Parts: sequence; C-alpha cells; structure tokens
Amino acid sequence: MCGILGYLGRDNAVDVLVNGLKRLEYRGYDSAGIAVLQQGRIEVRRSVGALRNLEESLKRESLFGTTGIGHTRWATHGKPSEQNAHPHCSGNVVIVHNGIIENYLTLKQRLENEGYVFESETDTEAIAHLFAFHMQERRSFLQAFRAGIRELRGSYAIAGMCEAEPDMLLVTRSGCPLVLGQNENAVFLSSDVTPLLAHTRTVTFLEDGDLGTLTPRGVTVTDGEGRPISRETSHVDWNAEAVEKGGAPHFMLKEIHEQPEILLDTLRGRYSYDAGDADLLDVTIPLETFRQVRRMWIVACGTSWHAGMVGKYLLESLIRRPVQVDIGSEFRYREPLVQEGDLVITVSQSGETADTLAAAREAKRLGARVLSIVNVVGSTLARESDGVLYTRCGPEISVASTKAFTSQVMAFYLFALHVGRTCHVLNPEDGRWWLDQLAAVPGYVEHVIKHEAELVSLAKRFYRKRNFIYLGRGINFPIALEGALKLKEISYIHAEGYAAGEMKHGPIALIDEDVPVVVLAPRNQLYDKTLSNLMEVKARNAPVIALVSEGDHSRDVSADCVFAIPDCHALLSPIPLAVALQLFAYHVAVLRNIDVDRPRNLAKSVTVE
Ligand code: F6R
Repeated sequence: MCGILGYLGRDNAVDVLVNGLKRLEYRGYDSAGIAVLQQGRIEVRRSVGALRNLEESLKRESLFGTTGIGHTRWATHGKPSEQNAHPHCSGNVVIVHNGIIENYLTLKQRLENEGYVFESETDTEAIAHLFAFHMQERRSFLQAFRAGIRELRGSYAIAGMCEAEPDMLLVTRSGCPLVLGQNENAVFLSSDVTPLLAHTRTVTFLEDGDLGTLTPRGVTVTDGEGRPISRETSHVDWNAEAVEKGGAPHFMLKEIHEQPEILLDTLRGRYSYDAGDADLLDVTIPLETFRQVRRMWIVACGTSWHAGMVGKYLLESLIRRPVQVDIGSEFRYREPLVQEGDLVITVSQSGETADTLAAAREAKRLGARVLSIVNVVGSTLARESDGVLYTRCGPEISVASTKAFTSQVMAFYLFALHVGRTCHVLNPEDGRWWLDQLAAVPGYVEHVIKHEAELVSLAKRFYRKRNFIYLGRGINFPIALEGALKLKEISYIHAEGYAAGEMKHGPIALIDEDVPVVVLAPRNQLYDKTLSNLMEVKARNAPVIALVSEGDHSRDVSADCVFAIPDCHALLSPIPLAVALQLFAYHVAVLRNIDVDRPRNLAKSVTVE
C-alpha cells in the first residue's frame, strides 16, 4: 500500500505534491519522492524515511516545475532505500506505482535482455522500462502506456509523465484506488481524495481498466483500447480526517474492511498453479532446507502469537510434523531446547516487538535458522532473520491488530503448502486443490463483511455485559483467544478465551445468565463435541452466541443468537471467524463510546520488555 499523486497546472508542482503527500503518509511512510518537469527535463528527488526528509532535501536544493508526480512508499519489493523509493525513470519516462506486479520477474528478464539496466529491487522499475521500451517502437507516450499496461499482471495504480509530451499525465488502475480532480487552474490525480480537498471537492473515481489523460484542457477517461468512457463526478463533503480513513469512522473498521483485498495481496504472485505449490521467491532461506529441518518452533506475542498457534495446527495437520509455539517473553528466558538444524518462525506485524526480536536473537545464538513472517519491510526483525515472508497488508494504524492477523494466517497457509510440497507430503494435485481453497478465502471474508449488520445487532444486544467467554476447539481455539483479546483491548470488557473441552475443568463455574458465551462451531470433525460444550453452557443459563457454518440448522435450537460464516474447509474457517469477531468487538466498543483507535494503556508497537 503506497500513495501516489500528480499535478499539472500553473503553480509550482513541488509544493502541491509535498503538501498532498503529507495527507497520504498514512498509506506508507518508509520513503518518499517526487518528479517534476523542470525546463522540459525530468528532475527526481527521493528520500528514505518520513516525508520531512524529502522536504529538507528540497529546501537544500529547490526544484520548480508545473507538472509533477509524487509517491509515499510502503515497501513490498525491496527494502526502504533511496534507490527503491519512487518515482522510477527509464529514458524520458518517469512513473509512480501503488500495488504489486506479479509478473515483474518475467518482465525484468525480458527487459534486461533488451539492454535495460535495473537500479532498484522494486517491481515498479520494470513498468518504467516497459513503457520506455514501447516508446522506442511506437510514437506517442499514450500508445506506449497502453501497450505496457496490457502486459502487466497484478494490482496497480500507475501515474506517469514523459519529457517528450510535457503537457500530459497518464494514469491507470487495476485493483488499487485512483481519483482525479480538477479546478479552473489545474488537474490532479491521487490515491485518495484527501490531498485534493485543498484544491477541489469535485472528483472522479476511476474504475479498474480506466486510463485517464490529464492535460491543461482537463481530464478524459478511456478504456485500454482508447474508447471514451464517461465517469460521473462526485462532490466530496468529508473532512480530511474522515477521508484518510476512507470515510470510515475509525482506522480499525477501515482495516477490517480492507481484508478481502489484503488477503489477495498476500497471495499475489506467490504460487504456481501448475506446480500446485506456493512460490515464495522472496523468502531468502533456501526452501529445500525445510526437508532437513529437525524441529520447528513458532514464536510471537499477542495477536501474532494467536496467528502462530493457527500456524501450528495447520502445519501439524497438513505436513504431520511437530511444531512448538511459544510466547516471545517466555521463550527468551526459559533456555529453550533449540538446536542447530531447527527452524524458528517468528511472527510480527511491526517487526520491532522487543520480546519477539530477543527470541529471534536467542534462536540464532543457539544455532537455529530464523524465518520471520513480518509486515513492515526493512524492520529490525526482517533485517536480522535468515528469511522473511512479508504479509503485505500495508500500514496497520489501528492499535488493535486485524488485517495483520489474517494476513499472517494466510502467510502460514502458503508456507505450510510449500513445506508440504517440498517434503512430498502433498502432491501437485493436493497443492492445486489447496490453492483453489486459498483463492476462495477473500470471498469468505467479503461474505462476513456483507453481513456486518447482524454483528451490529449482536453488539447492541450484549454491549452492556461485563464478562464474556469465548470457546473454540482445534484450529479455532486460537480464534477464541483472539476474539476475546479483541473484545478486551478495545471495549475494556473482561473476556476469556478457552479450549471448549477445557470448560468443565474450572471456568464453567463462572457461567450464569449474565455471562454471554461465544461458541465457535463451524462444521468440522469436532463439531459434535463443540455442540456438546455449547449445551453444557446453555444448561447453566448462559446466553450463547454461536458462530456456525452457513446452512447449519441443528444449532438453532440451542444457541440464543447465531452468525453464519461461509461453509468452507475446516482449516480455512479461522479467517472468516476472526473477521466476524473483529467486527463484533469493534461495534461493542463503539456502543460503549470508546476511542477505538486509541485504546487506553496500549501502544501499537511494544519495543520494551
Ligand atoms: C493486539 C495487538 C498486539 C500485537 C502484539 C505483537 O491487537 O496488536 O497483541 O499483536 O503487540 O505485535 P507485533 O505483531 O507487531 O509483533
């Protein structure tokens, strides 16, 4: 997730771009850059770190031009560095990009054979060279742009300009947002409307496949073949803060709603359907070593630890190997029996959590290899690990983790599939079957989000309760823990997650008619047993909220309230269940008037012990 911006008008584009990028910084902030046409020449300025570094550099050496593009980066391919920062140039073309190009390695190989030299580790640079390549063959930038985007696979919003045609910006999108704006003096493009609000409130949202041409005469939109398309203009009356949240009242809700797209991004370009295998090119540990791994460990904290627990169930059931899961703060001080030949998988959204980092260092000291499942590219954990599997979920602003969790679980699916194939536990046909299942997951999440109103009703019924219990079994036991954690951290209601079968060994004493029990009972081999646990709590008068599989009617008799997730494979149910519980917790907290994005006593990144 990055932010892109463009301006063509009468004023200095530099000021418009820098001020606009400030509004897009929430989309990424590991590096930033701009390009302007100064006296007919492309001039690029890029800086690592926050936008103020770019501002400083522009103060030291100013630029002037009335046409320009800008970018604020959230690294996916290549660490945060000046070289990897956008814009990227080739010949007399310069571009900025938000998204992931799945076929960039194939394009890169082809373009290198044509003599193009790559200076960055990004997928984006392949787009710049591709446009330059097509410009050699065709006459106009527009024709080259069209020919180039036809060859791209993946998700993108791209804006470009060219020295040969200085009075024009070109833009297109597929799977990433893009909005155009104009006033009597200038035309604008942006990843969202926030930067445009200072200039205009009349905007046009582009759709996938649209190609926008911005000139001093205004904006035109065509399809990829050049046929005109008419897109309605909208009037925006949001305030700037609401716009950053995509119109959502809180970042948490925005991030919950982003999950179908995020889960696709985690998968994108990371599998070979023919081989029935995950294609984890970006993991630098030689993946054959998994065959020789003596023992696997997973270490993480908080929500990431819950994702790790799902990973354990998954790996054990798919590849039949023992996996040990540990909390970071416990692992580092208990002299873990890690040895050379072991693989320790650390899981962290931030990549900066002190206990997880210390656990990774301890594991390395003991001779193990460390593979990290991390969101923030270039974070300390990512840098210090032997291999990294990035979750690519974009900046998570809400303190309560949502999209990071589901993308970590998705990363475990890919990893487990790959280990299963490498160790020949799964054959290509099994692998293809798994890939079909994984491709369906974003749709399951969409289904849950579509039924959000039912979760709002549940929240309205129960938000005044003081205690909750969450029960799950097998791979959904960690989801019970995660559901309880989400509720307690943002609503301040006491909630406990339990393995459903463990209830009668003590916690059942807590139950009465005032303690709602959330039972995770999707269809799986433990369904009957979970239903028996549901009956046990019901018999003690607890109000029961059951999360079941669509089409399951047997529960109607026993639960007070029911929410149905899509009927999916048992090992995939953690993701839709987690999203339903995130939404439930969110709406309970809102009804309790809590500042959801800033819950008391919590910090987003725990860099102390
Ligand atoms: C809960 C939450 C925390 C984090 C934990 C680890 O919503 O966000 O429990 O999961 O602090 O953080 P990372 O994943 O950054 O290591």
